[in-house]
Amino acid sequence: MDMMELIRTRKSVRTFDGKAVTENDIKELTEYINSITNPYGIPVKFVLLDAAEHGLSSPVIQGEHLYITGKVPLTEHCAEAFGYSFEKLVLYAWSLGIGTTWIGGTMKRELFEQKAGVREGEIMPCVSPLGYPAKKRSIKEIGMRTAIRADKRIKNEELFFANGFGEPLHTDDPTIMNALEAVRLAPSAVNKQPWRIVKCGNAYHFYEKKNLAGGGAAWDVQKVDLGIAICHFMSVAGGVLSVAEPDISVGKDTEYIATVTL
Ligand SMILES: Cc1cc2nc3c(=O)[nH]c(=O)nc-3n(C[C@H](O)[C@H](O)[C@H](O)COP(=O)(O)O)c2cc1C
Repeated sequence: MDMMELIRTRKSVRTFDGKAVTENDIKELTEYINSITNPYGIPVKFVLLDAAEHGLSSPVIQGEHLYITGKVPLTEHCAEAFGYSFEKLVLYAWSLGIGTTWIGGTMKRELFEQKAGVREGEIMPCVSPLGYPAKKRSIKEIGMRTAIRADKRIKNEELFFANGFGEPLHTDDPTIMNALEAVRLAPSAVNKQPWRIVKCGNAYHFYEKKNLAGGGAAWDVQKVDLGIAICHFMSVAGGVLSVAEPDISVGKDTEYIATVTL
C-alpha cells in the first residue's frame, strides 16, 4: 500500500478478532520500531506489553492481546516528537493489517506507566492496542464513533491558508493536495483536528488551534496531534522541519508549532 492509501484507509480499531499478533508480524514491527526517527531528533522508546501478563485493558477496546506504549523525555517539543514517531508506527502497523487506536485518556494511566517502566523525567503520552480488526465493530465502538463524529473532518478552507489566516489556500499541485488531505485525515484526540497551516512561498507553517478543554498535564495532547499532522504531511511531501515563528498574526488560542519547508 502506498502512503496515501494507508492514510486514507486507517481508522481507529477498537474491536479486535481475539487472535494474537503473529510472531512474524511482531518481528517486522520490532525491526521497524528500531528504525523510527522524528525531525525533532528527540528519541521515542517503544515498549510492547502483553495484555494478559500485565493486566492491561481499556474500557473502549475489546479482543486485544497486545499493547504498545511509547516514552519520551519531558523536554521542549516532546509531545510533537512523540506524535510524529508514534504515528509512523501506527501507519506501518496498518500496512501489515494490524489495527491501532491512539489512547491518551481511556486507560488506567498509572498502571500502563508502571508496566512501561516510565522513569522520572520521562512521559508516556499515549498507548495503543495492536491486533487484527474484527469483522464487525462492537456496539460500544459504533456508539463512540458516532458521539465524537469520528468519520467527519473539517473542510480544507477552514484548515489551510495562504500568507496569513485570512485567505484560504488554493493549490493544483498534486503532491501538495495529497499532503493537505493527509493532514486532514489524521487522527486526533476527541477528533478535534487542531492543526492549521499557513503557506508562505515554500514554507508551510503549522499552528495549533487549542480547541480541547482540559489540560493540567505536563504535556499538551493537542501538540501530539500536531506531531501526527506533521508526520502525515512530511510522509507525503517530504521537506525540512524548523521552528522559527514567522511574522503572521494569529487569533486567540492559536499557537505556532513548526514550519516544513519544501
Ligand atoms: C492523541 C490522541 C489521543 C486519543 N485518545 C483516545 C482515547 O483515550 N480513547 C479513544 O477511544 N480514542 C482516542 N483517540 C482516537 C480518536 O478518538 C480518533 O483518532 C478520532 O476520533 C478519529 O477517528 P479515526 O482515528 O478512526 O480516524 C485519540 C487520538 C489521538 C490522536
